[in-house]
Amino acid sequence: MDKMWAGRFNKALDKEADDFNSSIHFDSRMYKQDITGSIVHAMMLSRQGIITNDESADIINGLSGILEDIENGKLAFDMDAEDIHMFIESELTKRIGDNGKKLHTARSRNDQVALDIRLYLRDECEEIFALLLKLIEVIKDKVEENQDAIMPGYTHLQRAQPITFAHHLLAYAMMFKRDFERLNDAVKRMNYSPIGSCALAGTTYNTDRSFEAQRLGFDGIMMNSIDGVSDRDFCIELMSCFATAMMHLSRFSEEIILWSSWEFKFVELDDSYTTGSSIMPQKKNSDMAELVRGKTGRVYGNLLALLTTLKGLPLAYNKDMQEDKEAIFDSVDTIKKCLSIFAPMVATMKVLKANMYLAAQKGFINATDLADYLVKKGMPFRTAYKHVGTLVGYCIDNGTVLENLPIEKYKEYSELFDNDLYNEISLETCVAKRISAGSTGYESVKEQIKYIAEFLNK
Ligand code: ARG
Repeated sequence: MDKMWAGRFNKALDKEADDFNSSIHFDSRMYKQDITGSIVHAMMLSRQGIITNDESADIINGLSGILEDIENGKLAFDMDAEDIHMFIESELTKRIGDNGKKLHTARSRNDQVALDIRLYLRDECEEIFALLLKLIEVIKDKVEENQDAIMPGYTHLQRAQPITFAHHLLAYAMMFKRDFERLNDAVKRMNYSPIGSCALAGTTYNTDRSFEAQRLGFDGIMMNSIDGVSDRDFCIELMSCFATAMMHLSRFSEEIILWSSWEFKFVELDDSYTTGSSIMPQKKNSDMAELVRGKTGRVYGNLLALLTTLKGLPLAYNKDMQEDKEAIFDSVDTIKKCLSIFAPMVATMKVLKANMYLAAQKGFINATDLADYLVKKGMPFRTAYKHVGTLVGYCIDNGTVLENLPIEKYKEYSELFDNDLYNEISLETCVAKRISAGSTGYESVKEQIKYIAEFLNK
């Protein structure tokens, strides 16, 4: 195919170099945004008297036809084209003749591609927002069903203090809420239009960049044309938001995998989100959660790859920047897939409350509460801590637990111990007495549910 830029060359591009240079096999997915941007560009050109109304109408008709034909499968991408921008422009000229050649007045592929990626990512982020909200909603439902499910809370993966499963899940709801807000902030910052920056320096035509920006739903124009075509910081920001959300999904996955093991047995994943083994008939594996955890690596990798690609680039556009797309597209695809599998996997997950409770009864997770009991009776915390530590040691040596020690034994350590201690260290009391804001206490959990519900209803 003849290159649009062929004029100053005497020889055609080497075939392998041509393939190496081409990006259509991945940027074709931006065809809709490319056409939308071009339609608005044609409108602007005629409004400003740069082309005639008839020429503009002709271009817009041609572009609309191309969009329709791509969508209904009548027009296939030419994989020999250099990129999606060249493909659409040459298809337009094929269809409407010389008027098609006027479309590229007062713009360059540099601002065109910077525009297309923004439009594309804005659309994709809409879907990601919806998926994040869906996941938070699923978590909230699980939370509501599990307000009475007492389990051990962990630090260092050692049983630490009793919590409810609802409280534990709410922690994830808060994280995904922030992921939503973080992404929303990044999208807001991305939502300024680069079109009209042209190659780098702007143009001698009397263009109206604000018209284009407004028609394309931007909050304004990028104020510096060199910045407009040079930076991909919005991709970096989005990818970093995706990486953070994947980190949260991955931690959640890790816990689900642990909880599904025989060692924990706190949850059971639905058959529809687990797989068997080809050799071990008893196995039920958490493949989906493992894959989400695994795919987190590539989302981190994409972020680092683009950061590295950009770090040495002189302003303005360099072809290196074509590498932005595969990285960000892969991150977008990956997080979308992960979120859409994760929500139903959590929704269908069975919570084995009795096993959680059993685990909470082991591991002396009421030891802090016993120390607090002494403190409330006037003992300094450090002294109380020491007494309880010694008592735990005694229990371990004698194969018993704090709940079963006779009061006489307690009295050997301190006269402050009385029979009311047994109620004080029951798991239910330990949870119920956590009254501080944000705690695992029943009231606090209700507050947290309300907080999430208000966020979802906004
Ligand atoms: N395919 C190119 C990219 O993705 C489009 C911009 C090309 N601009 C240029 N001056 N060669 O970056």
